[in-house]
This record gives sequence, C-alpha cells and structure tokens, in this order.
Amino acid sequence: MLDPSLLKDLLAEVRLAPSVHNIQPTRWRLVGGDALLLLEDIARRLPAADPTGHDVRLSHGAAVEGLSLALGRHGLRIAEVEPAADASTSGGLMPVARILIRAGGALDKLADLVASRISWRGGFRAFGPAGEAALDGLAASSTDLLLVRDPPAVGEIARLADEAGFHFLCNDAHRAELLRWMRLSRSDPAYLRDGLSAEAMAMPGVVAFGTRLVLGPLFPPLRRLGLAATLVSERGTFANGAVALFHRPEGEDPLVTGRAFYRAWLAMTAQGLAACPVSVLADRPASNRQLIERHGVPKGRRLVNVFRLGLAAGAPAAVRARLPVAELIV
Ligand SMILES: Cc1cc2nc3c(=O)[nH]c(=O)nc-3n(C[C@H](O)[C@H](O)[C@H](O)COP(=O)(O)O)c2cc1C
Repeated sequence: MLDPSLLKDLLAEVRLAPSVHNIQPTRWRLVGGDALLLLEDIARRLPAADPTGHDVRLSHGAAVEGLSLALGRHGLRIAEVEPAADASTSGGLMPVARILIRAGGALDKLADLVASRISWRGGFRAFGPAGEAALDGLAASSTDLLLVRDPPAVGEIARLADEAGFHFLCNDAHRAELLRWMRLSRSDPAYLRDGLSAEAMAMPGVVAFGTRLVLGPLFPPLRRLGLAATLVSERGTFANGAVALFHRPEGEDPLVTGRAFYRAWLAMTAQGLAACPVSVLADRPASNRQLIERHGVPKGRRLVNVFRLGLAAGAPAAVRARLPVAELIV
C-alpha cells in the first residue's frame, strides 16, 4: 500500500501543514507497507515559548491531519493513530505515534485548500456583505470556533493581545528564541527552509532590520524608556478583522487537538478568509481566562488558540519556507 515513492508524494502536501514558529518538528518512517512512525526531531523544540511541548505536539497533530488529507487523494485513510508507548529518544528522534494506513479513503473537501492556506500577518480590508457571509459560513461549518465580530470587542482582544505579547517578550529567553527562528534577511541560509521569514511576517526590509535590534540589544533600554511596548505592538493588524476562539474538549491529547486546529484553519481558507493564530492570548493564563469568561467558551472546553481573521488586504508572500521532503523521512 505504502512505498517510498508514495510517501514522498504524500509528504509534499503534509509539509504544508502549519507548525509553531515554522519549526517543522515532524519526521516520518515507513514501517512495512501499511504503517508510518511519526517521530519528533527534538532539536527543534521551543523550550522558552513552549516549555511543556504542547504546541510542538499540536503541530504534529496538524501534520497527521495533513497526512489524512493527502491519503484521501490516493484512496487511503488513517485507520488508527497509536500514541507511542515508549518515547525514548534515539539519534535525536523521539517516537510520537504509530499510524496505521488502510484502503478506503475518500477525497476530503478541505484537501484542495492545503496549498493556499497560509498564516496571514498583513492587514484586513472591510468585510462588506460578502465578508459577513463568509463569517456566517465559517460559524456554520465549525463547532470548534467561537467568532467575535463586534469591532469594539475585537479591539479589546487586540489590546489584550498586545499586553500578553509584551509580557512574553519581556522574557529574555523567549525573545532570544524567537529571534533564532526569525529569518530577517534573504541571506540567511535557512530563509527558504524553516522559521519565520521577513516576507511571511509581512515585514519590509527596514522593519526586519529594526526588529533584530528591537528584540535584541535595544529591548532593555527601550523598555526602560517606556517605548518597547509601542514598538512591538501588533494591535493595528486586528483592524477590520474578526477573531475566532478555537476551543476543544478539556483533557484532549494535543495530537488530536492539532488535527482539529488544522481543519478549523482550512475551513477559514475555504470561506476566503485570511487568518493568523495569536497564541499569546491563549498561552497567558490571564487573557485565556478573560476570553473564556467574556465570550462564553462552553463549559468543558479549553481555549486552545485564538485567530485573527478577515479579508486579506494584499497578496500572500510568494515563498513558503519548508524543509525538503527528503529531510522529513528518517
Ligand atoms: C500551534 C501553533 C501556534 C502558532 N502560533 C502563532 C502565533 O502566535 N503567531 C503567528 O504569527 N503564527 C503562529 N503560528 C503559525 C506558524 O508560525 C505558521 O504555521 C508557520 O510559520 C508556517 O507558515 P504557514 O502557516 O504560512 O504555512 C502558529 C502555528 C501553530 C501550529
């Protein structure tokens, strides 16, 4: 059923799944003709931003969903995802799950959106009737999303996002780690491979240059002068947009959550909506609690992440940094 050539075809699509900071931590190993072992490249963890490994596991989950969507094109499906019982690391790789593949898959309507889904970090244009209809369509298509559309409420979430973002940026290790994954210049050898390129972050060259300084050596003095928070503010990127609160059952394995996360994001793409996660809102307990209370996230559900979304004002970046498929097979 599975062979090395088919695996390469599948991974060409799977690798387009989102991963936190674009670290692409997921590796694959063929086990016989009907199973894959999913492994984690442990060198790609984010100890400062993701100390528990939650977002890395969620990223693996998104990759699993990407696999499921790709398999459907070939009449195959995932029959079972067995989380690894023994997670002992060897050669820098940690087993995460064994995935059993069977015949009988069908093309999923979200599969054709995999190539066009991106993290949209630019601004939004006004919704208008077509945009409002897209939001209605999204609300009807997902039980995992709670939409906030009222501009003052969106503005309040933007303010909260700045507060949460600044809180994390004040941590030296967090800033250093973020800078390590930023690809601020095209001369960076990893610009097309992984991490966050200036283009993907919708940063003109001069801003990219400034970011290196503001998040680097200038941050402490700018903070002392009370200027740092304004310089790193992303409040403006919420203008004209809406917010989607992504919630899933409490206690769910993030590997499962990641599959739903990817599907919810593709559902936004399906409606013609551009979106970007704003993880700090969910990661900071204070903002997470506030959003749950203010917007009525149902009982028994966990606020996993928050998206800002809307109609893109502009074109997406031409380049999507991804590792070559050959490096994903171990
Ligand atoms: C769990 C998770 C959390 C993320 N959080 C953020 C975030 O807070 N801010 C952001 O700009 N992008 C965030 N992203 C998006 C990734 O940076 C993005 O998926 C990656 O750079 C690949 O780019 P693409 O989504 O355009 O394919 C997140 C992605 C995942 C899977």
